[in-house]
Amino acid sequence: MLDKLKNISSEVTSEINAVNSAASLEEFRIKYLSRKGIIATLFEDFKNVPKEEKGAYGKELNELKNSVTKLFEEKESSFSSSQEKSDIDYTLEGRTYNEGTRHLISKALEEISSIFVKIGFKIYDGPEIEDEWHNFDALNTPAYHPARDMQDTTYLDAKDIDPDKKYLLRTHTSPGQARVMLSHKPPVRIILPGKVFRNEDTSARSLSQFHQVEGLYVDKNVTFADLKGTLDYFAKQFFGDSLKTRMRPSFFPFTEPSAEVDVECFICKGEGCRICKHTGWVEIAGCGMVNPKVFENVGYDPDEYTGFAFGMGIERTIMVKYGIPDIRMFYENDIRFLKQF
Ligand code: PHE
Repeated sequence: MLDKLKNISSEVTSEINAVNSAASLEEFRIKYLSRKGIIATLFEDFKNVPKEEKGAYGKELNELKNSVTKLFEEKESSFSSSQEKSDIDYTLEGRTYNEGTRHLISKALEEISSIFVKIGFKIYDGPEIEDEWHNFDALNTPAYHPARDMQDTTYLDAKDIDPDKKYLLRTHTSPGQARVMLSHKPPVRIILPGKVFRNEDTSARSLSQFHQVEGLYVDKNVTFADLKGTLDYFAKQFFGDSLKTRMRPSFFPFTEPSAEVDVECFICKGEGCRICKHTGWVEIAGCGMVNPKVFENVGYDPDEYTGFAFGMGIERTIMVKYGIPDIRMFYENDIRFLKQF
């Protein structure tokens, strides 16, 4: 009989060591310590123990009961204290949250708009989905012009909107010029900020989606000097006095004469680098005097009115201002980049 107790005692030790969860601890309790458990049964068997063994057996059984209870309690308390530790670690640093800010393109669009608003320009909006007439024909860009090539323009399958029209994603903000002139009599002095789309490969310098701000000023006696003065004023306000700007003759079907506006390269300060294609200058806008053909297309009298227009690339302009070397950074949403503005 005493041997039996010794065997149980050694089993208990190995079983309690194997307990590794609340469930297995509960199994252990039921097996040994419950009302019908092994210990209780052994106490019931006490009456069958031969008289001469009763003293030793009783002592041994009591010791067994105490040691099993102690092992159980120790395990139970080790469980609850280790659980507390894993749930909450009071030594961990607190969590910080990144506060949202406006994207630097939105901020720049606002800043550029307000610079023009100060000298009397009004802000207008045009649709991003345009038809071929507003995007090209109205702007004196005939059907054979290379800008209509599928490589530059994203055409849309929108026969269900109007089968007689060809729809596309506007390739520039200039169709907004035509829309404003068709709906307003001169004088007009407006800017049109917005997204534009080109079917182009992505590189450090160009993206298939970017932003422009279009400007248009039509009145009697508007001259090229007004255009130059307006863009000079803008450049001084936006970039400060330190960066030089220049105008270069160029060609656009909707302006005559046409020019391109360059700003001194922000990376190499005119020395020549990858960003400025080793010229020392970065182009930020196209501009010119509104072509009389465009006035005819929108019903303005070209003998009475003259005007200037410009279209500025916003990403380029911001890159010049902050020395950002790669246009793709605007859209990668890397918080380390965005936080700096
Ligand atoms: N629309 C031209 C472009 O996207 C820019 C431009 C606008 C040029 C207005 C002249 C006048 O390149």
